[in-house]
Amino acid sequence: MPKGLFITFEGTEGCGKSTQIKLLAEHIKAIGHRVRLLREPGGTPIGEEIRHTLKHSKNNQAMTAEAELLLMNASRAQIVREIIRPALAAGEMILCDRFYDSTTAYQGFGRELDLEKVKSIIEFAVGETKPDVTLFLHVPAEVSAERLRSRQSTLPLELQRDRFEEADRKFFERVAHGYGVIAANEPKRIKVINGAQPVEIVCARIWETIQPVLPKIGRW
Ligand code: TMP
Repeated sequence: MPKGLFITFEGTEGCGKSTQIKLLAEHIKAIGHRVRLLREPGGTPIGEEIRHTLKHSKNNQAMTAEAELLLMNASRAQIVREIIRPALAAGEMILCDRFYDSTTAYQGFGRELDLEKVKSIIEFAVGETKPDVTLFLHVPAEVSAERLRSRQSTLPLELQRDRFEEADRKFFERVAHGYGVIAANEPKRIKVINGAQPVEIVCARIWETIQPVLPKIGRW
């Protein structure tokens, strides 16, 4: 059985990842593949506890950038070994909402941690497990801020407070700049999609990018 495909979605808050990842999953399932949807931080029981600590716990105000970096990668080390490697070996198509480019963008560029140290911690967490394709949904800062405001009011109370979303504008500018640098450094793996377009157009662009790289059903 051929190895599965590992696809990651990246972008700033409100870039439309959550909507698009579900749409892509439906398309891929419709042609007969097994699809697994994951998210980071999280995606395993241990990872979901770490996610709560990172994002919503009322005790997380004092968290340092270094602790944040390590927790992100603790969650990642777990999901890579518990889920991603076995699923790829079983031929599944994995769609993951964020992966290590988020760490480079948020902890490296955003929190301004040393980029070489960030890289070596990511390498320790993932080993040889790297995405085959990364879809970077690019949206201007105003679109991101507006989508975030409208999403916020629809969330249950316990999820409304999010440590990341409390960061200041300059932090998000550094994250956005970081994504630009990351995408420019790896144009073969990272495909930049204009996420400010209507949902159906973004979905069509993503499908045009992914369809040609999917393993062909029936030739196994
Ligand atoms: P989201 O699931 O709503 O995108 O929230 C995840 C948040 O965590 C988002 O603000 C980005 C942040 N994040 C990092 O800072 N570093 C990482 O490595 C990952 C995976 C996420």
